[in-house]
Amino acid sequence: MCGITGYVGCRDASPILIEGLKKLEYRGYDSAGIALLNGSDMEVVKKKGRVNVLESELGKHPFCARLGISHTRWATHGAVTDQNAHPHVSSDGNFALVHNGIVENYEDIKKFCQSQGYTFKSQTDSEVLVNLIAYHYEKRTDPNLPNRFLEAVRKALVHVEGTYGIAVISRFHPDQIVAARKGSPLLIGIGNSERLVASDVLGFAGRANNVIYLEDEQIALVTKDNCDIVTICNKQIDFEVKSIDWDLENADMCGFSSYMEKEIFEQPKSIENAIRGRISSDASTAVLSGLNMTPTELRQIDRILFCACGTAWHACLVAEYLIEKYARIPVDVEYASEFRYRNIPVHKNTLVIVISQSGETIDTLEALRESKRKGFRTLAITNSVGSTISRESDGGLYQYAGKEVGVASTKAFTSQVTICLLLALYLARMRDMSFSDGKRIVEAIKSAPEAVAKTLELAPRIKEIAKKYAKYKDFLFLGRLCEFPLALEGALKLKEISYIHAEGYPAAEMKHGPIALVSPDCPSVIFATSDEIYSKLLSNAQEIKARNGKIIAITDNPEIFSASVDDIIALPRVDASIKHIVAAVPAQLFAYYVARELGCDVDKPRNLAKAVTVE
Ligand code: AGP
Repeated sequence: MCGITGYVGCRDASPILIEGLKKLEYRGYDSAGIALLNGSDMEVVKKKGRVNVLESELGKHPFCARLGISHTRWATHGAVTDQNAHPHVSSDGNFALVHNGIVENYEDIKKFCQSQGYTFKSQTDSEVLVNLIAYHYEKRTDPNLPNRFLEAVRKALVHVEGTYGIAVISRFHPDQIVAARKGSPLLIGIGNSERLVASDVLGFAGRANNVIYLEDEQIALVTKDNCDIVTICNKQIDFEVKSIDWDLENADMCGFSSYMEKEIFEQPKSIENAIRGRISSDASTAVLSGLNMTPTELRQIDRILFCACGTAWHACLVAEYLIEKYARIPVDVEYASEFRYRNIPVHKNTLVIVISQSGETIDTLEALRESKRKGFRTLAITNSVGSTISRESDGGLYQYAGKEVGVASTKAFTSQVTICLLLALYLARMRDMSFSDGKRIVEAIKSAPEAVAKTLELAPRIKEIAKKYAKYKDFLFLGRLCEFPLALEGALKLKEISYIHAEGYPAAEMKHGPIALVSPDCPSVIFATSDEIYSKLLSNAQEIKARNGKIIAITDNPEIFSASVDDIIALPRVDASIKHIVAAVPAQLFAYYVARELGCDVDKPRNLAKAVTVE
């Protein structure tokens, strides 16, 4: 939800911190700030707006420092103002802090700090942390303690309820950064006589090849050559250092005009990566290592529960159709945020599967933890190696889609759906699916990257259609069966990057209310690739046409629909098992081109962030 970077080393900290922040801007970009230490001199600059606004402000008063922290904000508590930007400085001026998360008991802490003489300048919850740390440093730690700074932070965090990823610096310790996490990701990068702190590896801006993943309720004392980690209960931690699998080519736009455009056009490759090494043509099934479940254990599963948020939740809905259709296993899909509190009665042989591109979405993470508390086997489908969700699930499948920087998820969605199809095939062939049916699906999956590449060739046509429809303020997206989730996803894409109201609906349900919205000012996008119900979808189109509604059809059967719709996006004909992968792409392109036509920032849409790590 916010991006944090920290640096301690031998180089000028400011440009390194700014470069890291720019790589993390997808996590939030309402405001940005930096705190630098040169000996006991502290410089804090923070501004509403993007990181480049901060950068130009910094240029007005250069400040040489070898240590600093910085932050790019997605506002939770407090409006988007310079004062509410991070870093926050304790009222005694001795500490500066950046925070990602939510302090749930911040009012109580604020009252306590005020009773101890500390004052506040911002409306944020985060500011209470820096004054609480200052209090514990001044009043609750032995001045002769060698790691007094670390101890003051630890003692303060004992009183904090909620989530945090923090980095703190002190004028009394110009060679130390203290970092801590609970619920919001935080990593420590190891360079040559320099250490970095960041919300994810991109924040290291290529300066570290090894990384320490902080776990929840761990606090680290970081210097340029060392790192000590203790738990909130003051237990020393022997941490693991992992190498970073840099895939830097994903960190640049490679000539595209935006990350979102690049990631849409990367889908043949990202789908290929999802499939690679996971198909057995000889056995006509999928080969899924990492599930950490034997075939016998998988055969005993008699129900699957999917949990996720946003686009990942739409992928779960596609998975429901695929697994029920091919493997005949009952599937339920829940919003992770709902599952956590609903206490759903769950069958004992239920497998819980969470899907999360970032692997850090707090609602999905807590649904995973609740499932494990209830003793269920859990799997995770994530795109972020080493993410919290991937580390806390019992097993799982990585998407290998490459870094998805655009806030609107595109390649991650088709990659998740591809992996769910592989899982459906694997489970089906373990049950009643025949060798020949398995072979058909194996061949279809192998053809998916090429089929998506062919679909991407429709981009110029889709761009024309998008220009024609960019003026409308309301849209209906309609689909049936496996394309109902695509209707939801297409509507989400359009609304989140062009700010146009759009809603997805089961096509047949339109008659039960939403048809009231149909008018010449409310176009409909209809997904129509399910052979068995072309005629039903044609009826839905004619019902809309009869009310002067405009229609865009995304279909692999243009002949049937051409007389009944205004515009057709004609898809390549493919096997039924991969139609939903192919049909997702035109809706992504439509949303993208509409947003570009309207001059919207497709990579950083207003009010959004890439990873929602606060509730
Ligand atoms: C999708 O375009 C959005 N960015 C959002 O709905 C996203 O899918 C959701 O926040 C879940 O994120 P995750 O997959 O990283 O858990």
